[in-house]
Amino acid sequence: MKVYTLIQMLLSATLSFAQDQNATMACSSIENLLGPTKVQSSGLQFEAGATGAWNLANAQLRPACIVFPLETSDVQVAMKSIFKSNARYAVQAGGHSAMEGWDNSQGGVLILFSQMNNISYNQETNTISMEPGLTWGEATNAMEPFGVAPVGGRASAVGTGLLLGGGISFLSPAHGFGADNIKCLDVVLVDGTLVVATVDNEYADLFRALKGGGSRYGIVTKYELYAVHTGTSADKPWIGGTIVYPSSSVEAVINATAHYVQTVGDPRAVSLVNVIISGEITAMAQVELFYNVTDTNTTTLPSSIFGELLSIPASSTNITQLSYLEVLNTNPAGNNSGSGETFGAGVFSTAESTQVYLDARAHWDNFTQAVAGTGAYFFTSLIFTPIPSSQVEAGRARGGNAIHAPLGGYVALNLGDQLTLGVAQPPPEADEAKLLFLNQLHRSPGFPFFMNECDKRQNVYETYGDYEFMKKTYMKYDPTRFIVEHMSGPPGL
Ligand SMILES: Cc1cc2nc3c(=O)[nH]c(=O)nc-3n(C[C@H](O)[C@H](O)[C@H](O)COP(=O)(O)OP(=O)(O)OC[C@H]3O[C@@H](n4cnc5c(N)ncnc54)[C@H](O)[C@@H]3O)c2cc1C
Ligand SMILES: *[C@@H]1O[C@H](CO)[C@@H](O)[C@H](O)[C@H]1NC(C)=O
Ligand SMILES: *[C@@H]1O[C@H](CO)[C@@H](O)[C@H](O)[C@H]1NC(C)=O
Ligand SMILES: *[C@@H]1O[C@H](CO)[C@@H](O)[C@H](O)[C@H]1NC(C)=O
Ligand SMILES: *[C@@H]1O[C@H](CO)[C@@H](O)[C@H](O)[C@H]1NC(C)=O
Ligand SMILES: *[C@@H]1O[C@H](CO)[C@@H](O)[C@H](O)[C@H]1NC(C)=O
Ligand SMILES: *[C@@H]1O[C@H](CO)[C@@H](O)[C@H](O)[C@H]1NC(C)=O
Ligand SMILES: *[C@@H]1O[C@H](CO)[C@@H](O)[C@H](O)[C@H]1NC(C)=O
Repeated sequence: MKVYTLIQMLLSATLSFAQDQNATMACSSIENLLGPTKVQSSGLQFEAGATGAWNLANAQLRPACIVFPLETSDVQVAMKSIFKSNARYAVQAGGHSAMEGWDNSQGGVLILFSQMNNISYNQETNTISMEPGLTWGEATNAMEPFGVAPVGGRASAVGTGLLLGGGISFLSPAHGFGADNIKCLDVVLVDGTLVVATVDNEYADLFRALKGGGSRYGIVTKYELYAVHTGTSADKPWIGGTIVYPSSSVEAVINATAHYVQTVGDPRAVSLVNVIISGEITAMAQVELFYNVTDTNTTTLPSSIFGELLSIPASSTNITQLSYLEVLNTNPAGNNSGSGETFGAGVFSTAESTQVYLDARAHWDNFTQAVAGTGAYFFTSLIFTPIPSSQVEAGRARGGNAIHAPLGGYVALNLGDQLTLGVAQPPPEADEAKLLFLNQLHRSPGFPFFMNECDKRQNVYETYGDYEFMKKTYMKYDPTRFIVEHMSGPPGL
């Protein structure tokens, strides 16, 4: 057994004995009010809830109790008690946060949305009303018969917390971030008060802050979302799929990615480029690309957009006509949990030269060398998600969001690492190499990091277009700074 694994086990054993009396008090007061079905501190449902997070680092945290709300008023009751008792707490929806501590709490109260799964479509308003407990796979399947979909995630197993971090969907180039498609939010404030926030009511500031502000502005108990007409699964308005490239093609793929970001602004084009070092040995690249051909008779990907990527020698190419559900299912749910996971954000504007991408790759290679010897990594990946200007414009048309990115387009980078089975934390030397890489990575001034794909230590708010607004709005809705002091989440407010 590696030394760090041993230290980790000792540490987690010690932590699980640490008691938070305030949380224990909150738990019993909430249980008195809501009853033992909705508030649990042992048993099968508690164990499944406590250990259900995707990231092993979060699945290993042990809350004093879990609140399983069935309706908004349950969350109000819980939040009132937590606030009064001065207890630590966490909120979990789909459990896919890569950030340690953001969706579970050691010794605190966990509010877990697994029992709030209602979803419905209103044809008159063309909106989807959904509760936080659904995954994007569940929500998209439920909406498919109506020929519509929410602008959710790109992997079916991810949940609704995605919207609060901005949220990138395959529908985003044409329709904006997931958050841009929110019409109305039910929000439980820090003291348990319920408010309904929209783009133009008295909570418009809160509404905007929640569209990218993450978990720090209150707990959302219902989302009303604008629906996108995607067709049913019988319709196949997309052409696309996955291309896998061998190690010898990786540099060409990085160049092509740079050229794509620099030149492609068509909102009907979608791409996601993943450069992966797997098993610490082989580099490979994987590209997912799609084109919306609704109003053309095209059956191939347009070469003016994807030609360079298509011309690079590949080990496998699977480009077909697809329904939106098939587009979403291009990313399999993956191995759920069982290993640690960390992310890290970077950003290049469309003005950056190809050399900037090649430099990033060189620094990343250095990082992979540093972690290769540790035996702690299942894979490390450098992921590029182009955000065309059309995506930012779609958000502005809906009244703007917290991210407040400049026009012109950019690419969001994610250093996405999955540790080997059973390993929750990166070894210290690998973590140091990661921080070095994130510092070496060029950052285009004025462009935002993506909260859903950041390192927990990165101050994402500071990179947003309106940091002052975010700080001011936080102070307005949480004047005693209870949230930042009692729950883990993005730093900087
Ligand atoms: C395999 C994988 C694929 C991913 N793909 C994408 C993608 O395509 N697009 C993208 O944008 N991101 C993606 N991510 C990142 C992921 O979206 C974010 O981690 C997202 O926040 C997860 O939402 P969740 O509900 O599943 O997670 P959770 O961990 O439950 O929630 C994430 C955060 O939001 C908070 N939160 C959740 N619900 C609420 C609520 N109702 N009120 C207040 N706070 C709340 C939590 O406290 C936590 O801080 C992916 C992550 C993984 C692991
Ligand atoms: C969710 O749906 C069920 C069944 O339709 C209903 O009984 C319940 O009241 C709904 N919950 C909320 C919070 O709307
Ligand atoms: C518990 O609450 C008291 C006051 O109510 C506070 O002083 C103390 O810091 C709290 N403990 C923790 C661990 O938050
Ligand atoms: C596809 O493109 C057409 C316009 O060419 C647009 O009307 C439609 O909304 C797009 N579909 C999706 C799912 O984005
Ligand atoms: C990538 O681009 C750089 C400079 O832009 C060039 O020198 C290099 O030959 C390119 N590599 C490949 C494989 O195309
Ligand atoms: C697509 O093909 C059909 C049948 O051949 C034709 O009627 C239609 O005009 C074509 N549409 C476009 C946009 O080319
Ligand atoms: C190609 O993609 C389609 C649609 O996602 C899928 O059904 C099919 O199994 C894939 N084929 C291969 C060989 O992976
Ligand atoms: C490579 O990484 C090591 C530590 O992991 C660091 O000391 C060194 O400065 C890095 N070199 C470059 C060129 O980034």
